[in-house]
Amino acid sequence: MLKKPAARSSRTFNVANRLPVEYRDSGSWSTSPGGLVSAMQPALHHLDAVWVGWSGAAAPAGPHESRPAPPDDATNLELIEVAMTRAEVIAYYEGYCNSALWPLYHDAIVAPVFRDDDYHAYCAINLRFAQCVATRAPRDACVWVHDYHLQLVPRLLRVLRPDLRIGFFLHVPFPSWEHFSTLPRGDDLLEGLLGSDLVGFQTAQSVERFMEAVHHLPNVRRQGGCLEVSDGDARHSVTVGAFPIGPPAQLYDKASTTRVIRDAAASIRAECDEPELLILGVDRLDYTKGIARRIKAVGAVLKSPEFRHRRIRCIQLATPSRTALSTYQALRRTVEDTLRTVNAELAELGLAPIQYIYEQRATDEIMALYVAADVMLVTSLADGMNLVCKEYVASRPNNDGRLVLSKNTGAAAQLTDAWLVDPEDTTDIARGLGDALRASATEATHRMQALRQAVFDYDATHWADSFLAALHTTR
Ligand code: G6P
Repeated sequence: MLKKPAARSSRTFNVANRLPVEYRDSGSWSTSPGGLVSAMQPALHHLDAVWVGWSGAAAPAGPHESRPAPPDDATNLELIEVAMTRAEVIAYYEGYCNSALWPLYHDAIVAPVFRDDDYHAYCAINLRFAQCVATRAPRDACVWVHDYHLQLVPRLLRVLRPDLRIGFFLHVPFPSWEHFSTLPRGDDLLEGLLGSDLVGFQTAQSVERFMEAVHHLPNVRRQGGCLEVSDGDARHSVTVGAFPIGPPAQLYDKASTTRVIRDAAASIRAECDEPELLILGVDRLDYTKGIARRIKAVGAVLKSPEFRHRRIRCIQLATPSRTALSTYQALRRTVEDTLRTVNAELAELGLAPIQYIYEQRATDEIMALYVAADVMLVTSLADGMNLVCKEYVASRPNNDGRLVLSKNTGAAAQLTDAWLVDPEDTTDIARGLGDALRASATEATHRMQALRQAVFDYDATHWADSFLAALHTTR
């Protein structure tokens, strides 16, 4: 039985790099990309919450110059913007966050780049976030800090406002010591996190890795499931635990039965020539998602003697992401080159090409894709949780879809009834996809029922409530 957070009436300060809406050059605001926002926004809806974050766009000139305020009414949350100059966006967001930490925390799939100036910008922006909260939060308020962008915030905040209750949640995997120990000033990040009362991770594996990393600090002692931390003369204890994130499952479930989404799904299938089976991939265009290898595996399955005479189609939606970074530009070239090669091979056999969509789609359009697809393919090389696979499961009220899932996602620990595959191995992805395509309807239904149980038991509300309940018991 879950303990309800004790002080529901008091405000929760939600602090994340991005606001739930992003500012476009055209002067409008739209939903921000990524799993953090898609799970957090509905999870906070029933709380009296303030969201502190960045607009996704550089401030026109100095960091204090204003721009049109974010639309509060679209989200029911009070939104407070932390502004950044163009130079800060380059050094903090594109530099330290996404050229050093992001690759490092995802098994160094591409080589992390460490630059002193980027780290200094990271410190400055983390301080700006901490000051923003410190000047606004009422006494004893609850502050929930998110993700790798803001790992210094908990300690900064504890110094500025010792009365606050501080929780931190990491949405991405925590790296192994082998990788983490290569990070210059990694100890500062650990000390930053240890300013929290509660540190949460997606999986038990990340908890273990974090425990191993802090074991190297002289001022930290393990006491049962907690850590005793001394910081100068002060001492406090930090609870550490796994809180697997989930999607707003009821929302996807309900939407998938509405007329408008079902009609949109029917149109998608009609545009694909009413396929016997439709395979779907939905990802941010990120090197952690394993998209190129997946396209090769799909090509191999479609061409195989077993499946080439069946009317099987595939759609890959790739949402543009971090497009200013050269690693992401190179990734786009690799994915699109791979796609051209695979589609040329399919054309030689008279088979339909894999349909590739490179654009940001609205949530209801993605819901329609989930409803249209018979098989969902998620092949991340490393992924803190992966919400796409859970959203797909939540969108199958008739228990009739099939999920092929990378064993390297946090979700794989819960969704063991998916067809699990090794994302590094194209042959194994093709094997899993083949198994899913040829499975009987009865087997697919049994698997989907079990998957839905896991997704609905651990949805977005459960995640937020259990994290906040744990935070409220820390002092
Ligand atoms: C992942 C991260 C989020 C991030 C999202 C989108 O889900 O965990 O913190 O917001 O990717 O990335 P972006 O760089 O566009 O914010």
